[in-house]
Amino acid sequence: MTALVRYSRDGEIAEICLDNPPVNALGVDLRAGILDALEKFTADDGARMAVLYAAGRTFVAGADIREFGKPPKEPFLPDLVNALEALEKPILCVLHGTALGGGLELALGAHYRLGLPGVKVGLPETGLGILPGAGGTQRLPRLAGMEPALDIMTSARQVGAQEALSLGLLDALAEDGSTPLEAGRAMAMRLIAEGAGPRRISDLPAPAITPDKLNEIRAQIRKRFPGQIAQLTAIDAAVEGAALPFHEGMKHERKLFQALMDSPQRAALIHAFFAERKVAQLPELKGITPRSFEKIGVIGGGRMGGGIAVSALLAGLDVTLIERDPGAAEAAREGVAATLAESVKRGKLSDERRAEILAQKFRSATDYAVLAESDVVIEAVFEDMGIKREVFEALDRNCKPGAVLATNTSYLDIPQIAAITTRPADVIGLHFFSPAHVMRLLEIVVPEGAAPEVVATGFALGKRLRKVSVRAGVCDGFIGNRILQVYRAAADHIVLAGASPYEVDRAVVGFGFPMGPYAVQDLAGLDIGFMTRQRKAPNRDPREFVPLWGDVMHARGWHGRKTGQGYYSYGPEHPRGAPSPEVEAIIAAERAERGIQPRSFTPDEIVSRYMAAMVNESARVVGEGIAARPLDVDVTLLHGYGFPRWRGGPMHWADTQGLSEILRQIESFQREDAYFWQPAPLLQELAANGRDFSSLNKG
Ligand code: 3HC
Ligand code: NAI
Repeated sequence: MTALVRYSRDGEIAEICLDNPPVNALGVDLRAGILDALEKFTADDGARMAVLYAAGRTFVAGADIREFGKPPKEPFLPDLVNALEALEKPILCVLHGTALGGGLELALGAHYRLGLPGVKVGLPETGLGILPGAGGTQRLPRLAGMEPALDIMTSARQVGAQEALSLGLLDALAEDGSTPLEAGRAMAMRLIAEGAGPRRISDLPAPAITPDKLNEIRAQIRKRFPGQIAQLTAIDAAVEGAALPFHEGMKHERKLFQALMDSPQRAALIHAFFAERKVAQLPELKGITPRSFEKIGVIGGGRMGGGIAVSALLAGLDVTLIERDPGAAEAAREGVAATLAESVKRGKLSDERRAEILAQKFRSATDYAVLAESDVVIEAVFEDMGIKREVFEALDRNCKPGAVLATNTSYLDIPQIAAITTRPADVIGLHFFSPAHVMRLLEIVVPEGAAPEVVATGFALGKRLRKVSVRAGVCDGFIGNRILQVYRAAADHIVLAGASPYEVDRAVVGFGFPMGPYAVQDLAGLDIGFMTRQRKAPNRDPREFVPLWGDVMHARGWHGRKTGQGYYSYGPEHPRGAPSPEVEAIIAAERAERGIQPRSFTPDEIVSRYMAAMVNESARVVGEGIAARPLDVDVTLLHGYGFPRWRGGPMHWADTQGLSEILRQIESFQREDAYFWQPAPLLQELAANGRDFSSLNKG
């Protein structure tokens, strides 16, 4: 037997312990070890019942995802689960932490299931582009009913202990305080005393579902996961399998599982899974201990500061918020209280906890002296260097040595902000996304000279706030906004050449983004775009095309959703906006003025330009070291900009298209605008050497 599985017996109870840190993933060695232990149990005449449990922080988190895409090795997981279920003597599984995917499927093969308090179970495979492939699509419907099973599989959600109990996924919940083994032994002794024998889910009848209900569910899934195939295929596996004898259903599941395993969506989603874990693994942080933090200061309680404060409070941190005058301090306090109340409504927080946070963990003030004990201070005042200067001078005077001083600036020069203080090595950018308590992306912007432990503290704080933190170098817009500006500019080029903003939005949504660039600008406010254009005007290269229609719209007071008119017109009849003929007329006038004869674009033509611009600028960002690796760009776009996860991010997507093909397209667009479509040197280099972006992610 491998060391990953321990078999022992205490009295009449066999104890099978899985020990494969960190999450007991079911790699080939663990599978072989379990099979071996099952054989020992069968042969062990003294054992009347087995308790299977796991060591460490969690039960089994699923199949070993690192094996995906490689030739499968025996014993295969479905066969292992079948062998477990076929045991002649009863076996009990004890679940703690999270029992996910293959982990839950293994437990569904057992004859009894006990949960420790707080356990969560689920079948998250569809979120990885596959379906439960070890009997989950066959056993879960038999146990929980078809509709709950389809919901669990397609939502990929984690089901809490009480719900798992009520759906019958668990037979019992243990008392607080016992270990998996203690709880399992106690239940096994009870079962032995009752003379309980094996109980197999595969013996249960398969549930049916009406065609109408099924159509309704399929329609909902298509709407919720546009473009994705795993959720619908999981439904097919469950529903079609239920019409077959159990073992035939298992074979059908396997066939559909394999087809998904070979799909590009699976490759993209697994790339996303590992990339978002790898972003925090940076060679520069190896062995660096972050500074400890508990007390957070936030300067500015507007849109961003308020969200940052809430995010920190929800993570259990102590927060002091500074505003410019008592009225603003009180308004900020009320804003934070209101957002916390919303969290209570959404079930994220209990009302008692909210009251406790407001009474003990949060205060707003105007005097910087109260920040003397703060470990990390995050500035989120107006985007104005003069005001930031005053704030950082005050922080420098009032904060203790060793406090990390961070700015949430979107575009201002962070080294210049650091230089305001007498401790530039303690200054970094922590660039949150709006709304800061909801959006998971955090860009950690590292100016030259920042102390490594300050950067490590940024990552530790990001982890505590449950953010996905990405390291970014200093440049205008860091990673995300810099790339955004370029693909938005590409959209403007397409519109100037003849497409309408609505055609562009539709094509981009068709690709998989939740919204197109013009609908997003309406949401953010067209005044922001106007201010950005103003800010960049002094240093703009005369060859750069900047549309004038945005300024015309701005001058008319059309600032997007908040004013009822932007690229779209908003009103009671069109809460999500209707295309505006007036906007089209403004754009047509500009084309005419520039002597441009409008041409038509297919959705594919729009997407190829939009994506080529995104990939090209992404390559520049990596080539210049602003992003550490292509995967950092992918995670930024996935978590901050709505890039469809099932396409993996722009760099992963570019690899699937072939970098030579993207380069060829860029070179062809160059004939129309040689300045805008300059190929990134990194893209040229990789294409010339037959390499891809993923080759830069290794190590
Ligand atoms: N396979 C391989 N490695 C895994 C893994 C898995 N299933 N699950 C987690 N890991 C690795 C992570 O990559 C990470 O490695 P690193 O330290 O080298 O970066 C380490 O385990 C710890 O993971 P997290 O940082 O995510 O730890 P958390 O405590 O935050 O979360 C978790 C734990 C909730 C279990 C989370 O890891 C998770 O959601 N894992 C994936 C669960 C999943 O999708 N399971 C289904 C797998 S597919 C399947 O089972 C197919 C079957 O139907 C045939
Ligand atoms: P905001 O205008 O909503 O809030 C700014 C707050 O700062 C106001 O409440 C104001 O009273 C306060 N303030 C101004 N001067 C102050 C001072 N001297 N001391 C204390 N408080 C002061 O602005 P918003 O949107 O929250 O932006 C803040 C910062 O975050 C800016 O640097 C912005 O570029 C950046 N940012 C904004 C994002 C967004 O989507 N709005 C996204 C990411 C970063």
